[in-house]
Amino acid sequence: MSQAPQKPSKQPVVLVTGAAKRLGREIALSLARAGWIVAVHYRDSVEDARKTVADCAMLAGVSSSFRANLSNEAAVRKLLPTVIDQLGQVDALVNSASTFEHDTPETFSFAAMEKHMRANTGAAILLSQALHSHLQARSAETRGVVVNLLDQKLWNPNPDFVSYTLSKAALEAANTMLALALAPRIRVVGVAPGLTLTSHMLSSEKFAALHKLSPLGQSSTAADVAATVAFALSNNSITGTTLLVDGGQHLMKFERDFSLL
Ligand SMILES: NC(=O)c1ccc[n+]([C@@H]2O[C@H](COP(=O)([O-])OP(=O)(O)OC[C@H]3O[C@@H](n4cnc5c(N)ncnc54)[C@H](OP(=O)(O)O)[C@@H]3O)[C@@H](O)[C@H]2O)c1
Repeated sequence: MSQAPQKPSKQPVVLVTGAAKRLGREIALSLARAGWIVAVHYRDSVEDARKTVADCAMLAGVSSSFRANLSNEAAVRKLLPTVIDQLGQVDALVNSASTFEHDTPETFSFAAMEKHMRANTGAAILLSQALHSHLQARSAETRGVVVNLLDQKLWNPNPDFVSYTLSKAALEAANTMLALALAPRIRVVGVAPGLTLTSHMLSSEKFAALHKLSPLGQSSTAADVAATVAFALSNNSITGTTLLVDGGQHLMKFERDFSLL
């Protein structure tokens, strides 16, 4: 949905990447419900993004979508200024978009590593940098928040999805570095889901069985993850840490990724 540029709003504005569908959409809707104007980022899912924008606009009055391939540095650098032009300001950023392609130490390549690092790590850092500059330009007091979607798998590693896992491990390290570098203006919080949504590699029966495989007898739901993101955005004392939302899956040992168990 496109709109005329707006003046800085009393309602805070959050950019959620990868918000057309799945977890990003749940996060967008949950934040719109809490009164945030949501800038819905997407890459290929045009129709889904349109629906997320319409649903967020019903909840918060305004929303808009923004297309960018996050593995393209120029496109990443343009994204936040475009949101600001359109919605007047940005107060928070949720880095949820993620490239997730299978490789192992046997099939690993620089190309796979670079693809994941660009979209999953580099883009999150550049967007945080852009948010910091924008908040600095607004006033000495303006504060903001970055939430990085991580993965319980970092605390429970196995050799599947090696490039994806490396990119999320780097993002977890960046979470700490950014929290130090961007304080006090920006808080930086990681949210690490467990197995939450199924993928094309899992049947619904297998997903249901794996979802129960945790100390609590169930892993995270999309609503749990979205509520944790909302909590991270609202709690002014949390920075430089990660909230694991996974039913305790990170306490277990899995020899393979869930999709290959
Ligand atoms: N789902 C889970 O069970 C689970 C478990 C642990 C951690 N997580 C983490 O939670 C977050 C959300 O998970 P999810 O399952 O909703 O993610 P997902 O479906 O794998 O991906 C979300 C979106 O990321 C976008 N994307 C991928 N590569 C991109 C690129 N190069 N540039 C721009 N956008 C790109 C895609 O947007 P388009 O469709 O518009 O192209 C996609 O819809 C991810 O960071 C993931 O690592 C999820």
